Amino acid sequence: GAPVEVDISGLKPGEMMTVEWRGKPVWIVRRTPEQLASLEKTEPQVADPKSERKPAELTPEYARNQWRAREDHKEILVAVGICSHLGCSPTARFAAGPQPSLPEDWVGGFLCPCHGSTFDMAGRVFKNKPAPDNLEVPPHVYLSDTKLLIG
Ligand code: FES
Repeated sequence: GAPVEVDISGLKPGEMMTVEWRGKPVWIVRRTPEQLASLEKTEPQVADPKSERKPAELTPEYARNQWRAREDHKEILVAVGICSHLGCSPTARFAAGPQPSLPEDWVGGFLCPCHGSTFDMAGRVFKNKPAPDNLEVPPHVYLSDTKLLIG
């Protein structure tokens, strides 16, 4: 499939947009400072904090960090919205604080409605969940501060 160019100039902090790449939904999230800070808290709670599992398939080298993002745009998460368990589509649950059906200390992220896997604001899967892996971060590069190229 061809790379997809995306204009992210209208994406505000805390907002998310979805584009299609190779027939898959790709989320682009501009994380707030609080959402980025939540990754400190989830670091010990996630199964693969530095995305070392299946690195070639799931996480490009430049995104194998706590944010799962390029250093120069670490507020932006680019991730394929397909659960690594059986392929359902997780939903965004960004609000902090306790929410029904989520762990009590929930700090925001994504919930898979099929079997309850939860992911943090970097798409990292929490421990003891059916999903084995973090969400895929597709190859991507910034052509400018407002133009993102996926693929
Ligand atoms: Fe997502 Fe099973 S498909 S938890």
